[in-house]
Amino acid sequence: MPTSPAIVTTIADVRATVAAARARGLSVGFVPTMGALHEGHAALIRAARQGTGFVVVSIFVNPTQFGPSEDFAKYPRTLDADRAVCGEAGAELVFAPDVGEVYPDDSLTTVEVTYLDGVLEGPSRPGHFRGVCTVVLKLLNIVLPDAAYFGQKDAQQARIICQMVRDLNVPVTVRVEPTVRESDGLAMSSRNRYLSAAERAVAPRIYAALHATRDRAMSGEYDVPRLEAALAADLAAIPGVRVEYAQIVDADTLRSSVRLDRPALAVVAVFLGTTRLIDNILLNDE
Ligand code: PAJ
Repeated sequence: MPTSPAIVTTIADVRATVAAARARGLSVGFVPTMGALHEGHAALIRAARQGTGFVVVSIFVNPTQFGPSEDFAKYPRTLDADRAVCGEAGAELVFAPDVGEVYPDDSLTTVEVTYLDGVLEGPSRPGHFRGVCTVVLKLLNIVLPDAAYFGQKDAQQARIICQMVRDLNVPVTVRVEPTVRESDGLAMSSRNRYLSAAERAVAPRIYAALHATRDRAMSGEYDVPRLEAALAADLAAIPGVRVEYAQIVDADTLRSSVRLDRPALAVVAVFLGTTRLIDNILLNDE
């Protein structure tokens, strides 16, 4: 029977609770989130539940990863519903600190993963990945989990965090879990709630375009410029869509891929009306 997980708001309380779990011989799993939890987050929590004995979820809308024109103030804050999702998915502890607990006024240190932050989301969101890496490293140092769980939905974020963990010798296993989608293919996202009915109706065509790209690649079309052109055309045909990028990149370097004999991703960012959506698909996993 799922029980409601405890909520703590201080670093001292997380550390004490996690230490007590460890003293009982439990391994610790960690799922960092910004709340507004949906099935995508729940799947990460369930994966942590499968893999470890004590699951911590953080719910923290991290100000340092939002640009000045982004939605920090209006980011949905739904703690009661989030706590229920955490409990149903099997988390034992929710860490929901306020901004001052995470970022004391005298903080001077940030974490930057270079190169991988120079493409895709990077150029249009200056400082975003610095904010993500800084908060994720802080949270890992606060929770000290054995394993931390991230979603492939944010492929660049997952790739950058794996790099940070490797480069800084952070003693944690990073697990990247598949993107969870609505039944019509739309990747679950806290931003989907901002879509109008008309936008929501056409939004699945973003994933359909990615899937068609994968089908073309799997059936022998290896010419990357041609694949990118077809993807761009499919996206451009969706009413109300403005494409920010639609690229095929090497899954490791995130740079343009000219060959498909290595793992490659089709990655897109589009505006549907005023809502910015990202999605991706692996082109060659078989
Ligand atoms: P947030 O957007 O809340 O996402 C938390 C985790 O859920 C991330 O690892 C994200 O990739 C994953 N996720 C979101 N939608 C998903 C979906 N449809 N399927 C599978 N996984 C999904 O990403 C962040 O928060 C923040 O940047 C954070 C890492 C917490 C740092 O502040």
